[in-house]
Amino acid sequence: MKIVVTGGLGFIGSHTVVELQNKGFEVVIVDNCSNSSEKVLEGITAITGTSPTFEKFDLREKTKVQDFFKRHADITGVIHFAASKAVGESVQNPLLYYENNLNVLIYILQELQKKTKAGFIFSSSCTVYGQADDLPITESAPIKPAESPYGNTKQIGEEIIRDTCKVAKGLDAIALRYFNPIGAHPSGHIGELPIGVPQNLVPFITQTGIGKREQLSVFGDDYPTKDGTCIRDYIHVVDLAKAHVIALQRLLDEKNEQNFEVFNIGTGTGSTVLEVIQSFEKVAGQPLNYKIVDRREGDVIAAYADTQKANNDLGWKAESTLDHAMDSAWQWEQKIN
Ligand code: WQD
Repeated sequence: MKIVVTGGLGFIGSHTVVELQNKGFEVVIVDNCSNSSEKVLEGITAITGTSPTFEKFDLREKTKVQDFFKRHADITGVIHFAASKAVGESVQNPLLYYENNLNVLIYILQELQKKTKAGFIFSSSCTVYGQADDLPITESAPIKPAESPYGNTKQIGEEIIRDTCKVAKGLDAIALRYFNPIGAHPSGHIGELPIGVPQNLVPFITQTGIGKREQLSVFGDDYPTKDGTCIRDYIHVVDLAKAHVIALQRLLDEKNEQNFEVFNIGTGTGSTVLEVIQSFEKVAGQPLNYKIVDRREGDVIAAYADTQKANNDLGWKAESTLDHAMDSAWQWEQKIN
């Protein structure tokens, strides 16, 4: 079974390639390396012993996408990670996000709808819920008006897939709405490689711990939560990667109940920013230098998943604790510095 992983050299993509290979799939990675490095291929190969086929090109070039699918006519599935994902950047440069996150999606679906049978896994996000009215968040929670062009591309992307699957009889799809992916592969061969100053909490914490950053700024401690800081659902990237393989297998085995399904992929447990800091201090055995500053624009107070649908229908459940995920992130940070 040949599976294409777009963005397969990225953080979640590379961990998913490993899990696909572990299950015996033949993997073709497409990545333009705009937010990743070809060195990640060595890490994947070091773990699985199999070097995935890799093609470097920009999926925004429609003719290259068409040519790729002609050359790989035996593709049975696509897991689509390739997209821009920085919330703040999307506000500054919306057209970059609409082009990269939507045009590319359309070009890939145009190729898949020609096939008699194909499975498509879409990298979506809990961002589509905005600040949910009820917690934990179920898949039937209302989709709120997007707070950023990034979030809007995930909402629009899901609608594009839903509408396409209605008419493309051979195409079935699943959107996985991620919560907060963190950590690194236990082998130490792959992990998160943020370019520049990390926007996300955990890589900023580990870079502060290693001395690459002076101090972590905690964006507000005056929220209506147990300790005043925001709550998120931090999921180990390997647990998240495994969810992709299980979702793809569901489609290939034709176990899906609709031609388009969505699943929340989280641990079901919310942790505050201060609890994440405490987790780091526990696993690293050292204090973290941080200060409380003003709130960050666009942050929701709390978001954590109701995982019943993924547990019951998908047959997937996160296995790692916050401490375990944090420890893997810290081991990785020490390895790459
Ligand atoms: C988590 C918490 C911050 C950095 C995620 C993904 C993003 C997008 C939306 C992915 C928040 C606080 C952070 C820092 C801090 N979608 N924080 N100091 O905002 O939940 O966004 O979902 O598909 O890519 O990252 O994650 O890690 O940015 O923030 O205090 O230096 O940590 O305020 O409460 P977020 P995050």
